[in-house]
Amino acid sequence: MNRRASSSPYLFFLQVIAIASLLLGSSLFASSLAWAADKDKSRWDKKYATEKYVFGREAIPFVQNHVDLLPKGHALDIAMGEGRNGVFLATKGFQVTGVDISSEGLKKAEALAAEHSATITTMVVDLEAYAIPPNTYDVIICTYYLQRDLFPKIAAALKPGGMALIETYTTDHSQYRPGFNKAWLLKPNQLLTMLPGLRVLRYQEVDTGQAAFASILAQKPH
Ligand SMILES: C[S@@+](CC[C@H](N)C(=O)[O-])C[C@H]1O[C@@H](n2cnc3c(N)ncnc32)[C@H](O)[C@@H]1O
Repeated sequence: MNRRASSSPYLFFLQVIAIASLLLGSSLFASSLAWAADKDKSRWDKKYATEKYVFGREAIPFVQNHVDLLPKGHALDIAMGEGRNGVFLATKGFQVTGVDISSEGLKKAEALAAEHSATITTMVVDLEAYAIPPNTYDVIICTYYLQRDLFPKIAAALKPGGMALIETYTTDHSQYRPGFNKAWLLKPNQLLTMLPGLRVLRYQEVDTGQAAFASILAQKPH
């Protein structure tokens, strides 16, 4: 090594600047993530701050129609919201954990469970930063929350034989909600490719004339 260069005050100064910018850059990045999460949380808390169940109290038909295929055990409801699907699974004998960024939503989910004399466990988490424990769940459901980097984590979090059930809007939904952020819409057939390694048991694309969505039920091999 060139001793003169490594010990030059100029080089030392440059190194200090580089380290300081790295530290400043990563702390700015971390605080912008925290700011985005706070914004998301207050937006959803505000939406849920009403007695009415914004997304209804009944499980979506795709969950109701396939509950008998799901392996009994521990179910994770990702972005549970007010709990319409997770509470339904709890009434069917599943041990349900629900995660969501909105404490208001989860409070309503707990209240809905209590009305049905069912028990659920809830956790306020930011899914952008949450590590879903691998090889843990028999069932994972995620409805109307599209965070693309979660899909491999969902596959990893299932036990062998476990099933993922996902439903969310497709690009056809734009005709009913022109302002809907396109980044959160699935392209036709896209959901079929998003859970590699899992076997597709059921798949549908539906256009009701008021909403357009895709649903999938897929199983991790034993
Ligand atoms: C359209 S709602 C769907 C709720 C529920 N899955 C259902 O189908 O009724 C989307 C949910 O995602 C949650 N959410 C949004 N951003 C989130 C984040 N970063 N981490 C965790 N949950 C989040 C919201 O609080 C909201 O409950």
